[in-house]
Amino acid sequence: MHGTVLALTLGCFAALPAAGQTVQERLPTCLACHGENGQSQNADVPSLGGQQAFYVTVQLLLFRERMRVVDPMNDMAKGLSDDDLRSFADIISRLPPPQPTQAPTDAARIERAMALVQQNRCNVCHLSSFAGQENVPRIADQREEYLVNALRGYKDNSRHGYDGTMADVVAPITDAQILDLAYYIARVK
Ligand code: HEC
Ligand code: HEC
Repeated sequence: MHGTVLALTLGCFAALPAAGQTVQERLPTCLACHGENGQSQNADVPSLGGQQAFYVTVQLLLFRERMRVVDPMNDMAKGLSDDDLRSFADIISRLPPPQPTQAPTDAARIERAMALVQQNRCNVCHLSSFAGQENVPRIADQREEYLVNALRGYKDNSRHGYDGTMADVVAPITDAQILDLAYYIARVK
């Protein structure tokens, strides 16, 4: 008898994140900002489609613990259980990946960026498709201004990654190079 009551109580808590809603009930709020079809239409809000589930889980944890500080996301992640984080990550990873918004028009920039990708081994960790793997995010066709913000954030230390990997990567990279990299990565086929 006691066992049943306990199981029911725990079951309820597990199914009800912060605002007393299930993950499925909260999802439309998330996708109103991030784009229903996996592709964000909002400036500064990243596309989430096809994102690596493990990366998403880790970032939601960083938001919840305020180790990655971004007001809307710190509020969104408040009170979510570890299981909720994994459920969101699972759903997000199965949305279709974003498409390039525009064709590249500046061949010189693309060429400079491709050389930087090789030199800085972006393609080793993020893969040559930029689809990412495990804790390394998909960056292919991410919004250009978000890519710029992310790289600048690692560089000026306002964005703390799960570890110092990206801070080391961007240390020797100039702002002009960040702009070229983002231009290219936002437009890969
Ligand atoms: C009010 C708009 C808004 C809502 C609602 C919102 N987000 Fe976000 N989210 C953002 C912004 C803005 C960022 C980018 C923060 C930055 O610049 O680092 C972000 C970042 C993220 C990231 C990190 C992406 C990456 O590539 O690192 C994840 C994962 C995420 N949100 C998931 C969610 C989930 C899950 C929900 C719902 C529970 C949600 N978001 C609701 C605005 C929103
Ligand atoms: C040694 C492996 C490694 C290399 C090399 C590397 N990255 Fe990363 N990158 C990561 C990891 C791990 C993360 C997640 C860090 C975190 O927790 O914030 C990341 C995150 C990012 C993000 C944030 C994406 C998002 O959705 O917020 C961008 C953008 C990025 N990398 C671009 C690059 C570019 C451009 C290069 C080459 C100049 C590069 N990376 C090289 C491992 C790497």
